[in-house]
Amino acid sequence: MFKALVLNQEEKKTIATIEQLDDSHLPEGEVLIDVDYSSLNYKDGLAITGKGKIIRNFPMVPGIDLAGTVVSSEDTRYQTGDKVVLTGWGVGENHWGGMSQRARLKADWLVPLPTGMDSKKAMMVGTAGFTAMLCVQALLDADIKPEAGEILVTGASGGVGSVAVTLLAQLGYKVAAVTGRVEQNGPLLEKLGASRVIDRSEFEEPARPLEKQVWAGAVDTVGSKVLSKVLAQMDYNSAVAACGLAGGFDLPTTVMPFILRNVRLQGVDSVMCPTEKRIAAWEKLVELLPESFYEQACTEVELDAAPQYAEDITNGQVTGRVVIKL
Ligand SMILES: NC(=O)c1ccc[n+]([C@@H]2O[C@H](COP(=O)([O-])OP(=O)(O)OC[C@H]3O[C@@H](n4cnc5c(N)ncnc54)[C@H](OP(=O)(O)O)[C@@H]3O)[C@@H](O)[C@H]2O)c1
Repeated sequence: MFKALVLNQEEKKTIATIEQLDDSHLPEGEVLIDVDYSSLNYKDGLAITGKGKIIRNFPMVPGIDLAGTVVSSEDTRYQTGDKVVLTGWGVGENHWGGMSQRARLKADWLVPLPTGMDSKKAMMVGTAGFTAMLCVQALLDADIKPEAGEILVTGASGGVGSVAVTLLAQLGYKVAAVTGRVEQNGPLLEKLGASRVIDRSEFEEPARPLEKQVWAGAVDTVGSKVLSKVLAQMDYNSAVAACGLAGGFDLPTTVMPFILRNVRLQGVDSVMCPTEKRIAAWEKLVELLPESFYEQACTEVELDAAPQYAEDITNGQVTGRVVIKL
């Protein structure tokens, strides 16, 4: 028997309870895994609280990522005892996810845990940190060099934002962090490597089509009017990696930054990211994240605390990364 957080729907409300299950309850897949850690991402918050239509089939075990140990495998790529990490592929949305002591998954979805990382560290990074790495990689691919100028990170005290700030600083970029919680999180953002912290209210005023050019690159986790303001302030030939919608999924912008300033808007998706790109991103995360990141920007909780943290993350009240110990 093992413990899992199970979501059910009653009268259109999502109800989360901890249940005792056995392996026969698990969905199909080639690899059976003892989950060491899962993590809490914004999408998990939407799924567990029912505030977002993430899950369509109930009962469902949430948890869009996990790290654990292979118990048994019908696929020759994985052997008993191997350490693996999983993010995305719809796990925790339409296939039972990581907030469970056991999971059964497709071998194609797994990535071997990179050398230099353990399960806990992998989930301190989690989907959010992995996505931050993809965003930073998008700026590297766009050939944005540190000497080009400042890089802006929005939603900076969240999971994606805090890792993006850390990674960019480690790569030698000058980072400006935008947060709605300057007093609470300013010192942490500076410790992670931000050279200045800007109040989000400055990005919530309606944007003119073009404003003063300030940013050589940007990682946006917020969307909506904040992204629109960011676009209006981008330098000539700069690039924005956009991955999130914490402030809304609309984008009230104009074509002006694109057609007059050669600004590139690169979307970033982590869910269907191809395996080769995943492996490269995990290796780079091991290389770039300093020990201090894990000490400063992560909280560990037990499974029964997940519903409360889910509520908090949807209200923008979580700082850094939250890992769930299974
Ligand atoms: N494309 C992908 O594959 C992918 C993968 C992972 C995450 N995401 C998306 O990226 C976003 C961030 O995810 P996360 O896990 O880092 O979430 P998170 O930890 O909740 O971080 C989001 C941050 O955005 C800011 N924020 C919250 N509400 C806001 C609002 N109404 N207006 C403006 N800013 C607001 C807050 O930062 P401050 O307090 O510092 O302002 C918050 O900490 C989410 O939208 C998530 O769905 C996408």
